[in-house]
Amino acid sequence: AAGPDLAGRHVVISAGGTREPLDPVRFLGNRSSGKQGYALARTAAARGARVTLIAANTSLPDPAGADVVPVGTAVELREAVLRAAADADAVVMAAAVADFRPAVYAAGKIKKKDDQEPEPITLVRNPDILAEISAPRARPGQVVVGFAAETDDVLANGRAKLKRKGCDFLVVNEVGERKTFGAEENEAVVLGADGSETPVPHGPKEALADTVWDLVAERLG
Ligand code: C5P
Repeated sequence: AAGPDLAGRHVVISAGGTREPLDPVRFLGNRSSGKQGYALARTAAARGARVTLIAANTSLPDPAGADVVPVGTAVELREAVLRAAADADAVVMAAAVADFRPAVYAAGKIKKKDDQEPEPITLVRNPDILAEISAPRARPGQVVVGFAAETDDVLANGRAKLKRKGCDFLVVNEVGERKTFGAEENEAVVLGADGSETPVPHGPKEALADTVWDLVAERLG
């Protein structure tokens, strides 16, 4: 790891996975543990940054020195990210954000009715936070990093996604059975909008985090 090369910088990291409620007791969610986002927060703090960690439904110990903002849904995550990004030098979106949420929230618990087919669940689109913070940037020169999990054609799909989202870097990892979710280790390629390609060999999530901060620090100059 580098020295305090992020001293004086404010970095914002989203971690975990959103939960989109159907009623007071049920939600649509995902398997993101938040470990990669927490590793990003710990390593950024170790490199001297002021860290805002926006944590969606995680159950991990608060990283020392980070300002932790707990959120539940994608809409809440968006509010917290936009607020924190206003004075941030870098924003890293490591959270798994639900693309869709139930169109209707039932104020009371949804009951099963005897002799009746279950009601279908109608979904509506969530805002794409990464795309929104990428254009326009809250501050000129702000570095924005996204994450993407792909199952096939990892590099081609990653390049297309980087362009679509408009961020500076996209960390692409291959997911499949036994890979990435909840694991202690990760393997990825960091794609840069400038065409760069930085492979990160299989290893601890801290190592991938440090590679991300190397690229961010270099870009910030
Ligand atoms: O489009 P996809 O979900 O694969 O993109 C993943 C990246 O976009 C992640 O960085 C994730 O945090 C971000 N994202 C977002 N808002 C969404 C969906 C994904 O910011 N609604």
